[in-house]
Amino acid sequence: MRESISKRLKKADPAVANILAQEILRQEETLDLIASENIASPEVRELVGSVLANKYSEGYPGRRYYPGNVNVDAIETLAQNRARKAFHLNQAWHVNVQSYSGSPANIAVFLGLMKPGEKLMGMALASGGHLTHGHKVSASGILFRSVAYGVDQKTGLIDYNEVERIAQKEKPRLIVSGLTAYPRAIDFKKFGAIAKKVGAYHVADISHIAGLIAAGLHPSPFPYADVVTTTTHKILRGPRGAVIFTKQQAISNKRHGANISDKIDRAVFPGLQGGPHDNVTAAIAYTFGRVATPAYKKYARLVLENAKALAQVLIEEGFTLVTGGTANHMMLLDLRPLGLNGFEAEKLLERTGIIANRNSIPGDASPFRPSGIRLGTPAITTRGLRPRHMPQIAQWFSRVLIGGENPEKVGREVKKFLTKLPVN
Ligand SMILES: Cc1ncc(COP(=O)(O)O)c(C=O)c1O
Repeated sequence: MRESISKRLKKADPAVANILAQEILRQEETLDLIASENIASPEVRELVGSVLANKYSEGYPGRRYYPGNVNVDAIETLAQNRARKAFHLNQAWHVNVQSYSGSPANIAVFLGLMKPGEKLMGMALASGGHLTHGHKVSASGILFRSVAYGVDQKTGLIDYNEVERIAQKEKPRLIVSGLTAYPRAIDFKKFGAIAKKVGAYHVADISHIAGLIAAGLHPSPFPYADVVTTTTHKILRGPRGAVIFTKQQAISNKRHGANISDKIDRAVFPGLQGGPHDNVTAAIAYTFGRVATPAYKKYARLVLENAKALAQVLIEEGFTLVTGGTANHMMLLDLRPLGLNGFEAEKLLERTGIIANRNSIPGDASPFRPSGIRLGTPAITTRGLRPRHMPQIAQWFSRVLIGGENPEKVGREVKKFLTKLPVN
């Protein structure tokens, strides 16, 4: 059933209502293979649009700067408890659900655990890390001295010996593990051991793979990390937001005293933010309630099965995949054998009604000329696509990117196919 726009909104502001109508149509008519996107449920959208957005509640449950927060305290506490439950954690893990999104969550962690100018080590953007893992244009690379580890340029895999060598040489105060564009499992145990050896905090950013971890389909970082951050809007299917899990007693680094959760809470508020978005907190509580169910586990398994199926049929169609395939929800197409670059492929796919982003891949000479396309299956799985649909998708890719068929012509088939699978 297609999302509708109320008569009231159409009348009150036809210009905004019209743009919203166009976006509803765009989402209906295109195949969303952006690895970080998903389709939030009507329940999540209802909570985000609820009266909880009216409230100011600076502070934390039981310690607010404004009155009238009895219900906000209840929803925030519920969100914290459900977040713990979704990852099978006990009270040793403190949960902060107030970060406005993944980037401020990471910056808050760094501000809580380091002084400006101290050293942070994270995966390079070009190797699949996120901007906030120390890139020079991000606050993480502006406020802190950052050193990067990468992937082996031939295999595309993280070389843990190299990570350890850099850590031993650079002695960072904090090491970030986690991915934005890396199609294989992360060995959090190895990262934890390296951090411990050099006396660094280990922060695992599981934004992309949180759902796989909750469902037991990817090794968990919790036994090996001091802090775990995740966005809530990617594979978790929640509202745009983030959660920070902090081990009360840091396991890697005791130099700074015990209670790192207080430091991180203070870095979120009042350090970086004012009032939390209580409407989003409610949707986060709802989301973690869903994540703990067998239905979500089934969804996460399907995300993985779809990714593996898509990788397989793309290879059969003649595409080259970085690392030769995938072990998570995403894959990276290496376009170099086709003589195409990421920009060209992204545009051709968009004209076909397939939305997937250009991405750097190992071996790229410049981040401004990416030779890859990143694909992910969380959104198409929510939409109802199953492994049996993947050969069709791979064929569309092949006809447009290898066979040079007219994108608009192939796009008519994509559009027709999607009418059978409406959004929500
Ligand atoms: C690993 C990782 N961390 C953090 C973020 C930042 O999240 P946001 O866009 O909500 O700031 C992203 C976004 O893609 C991400 O992939």
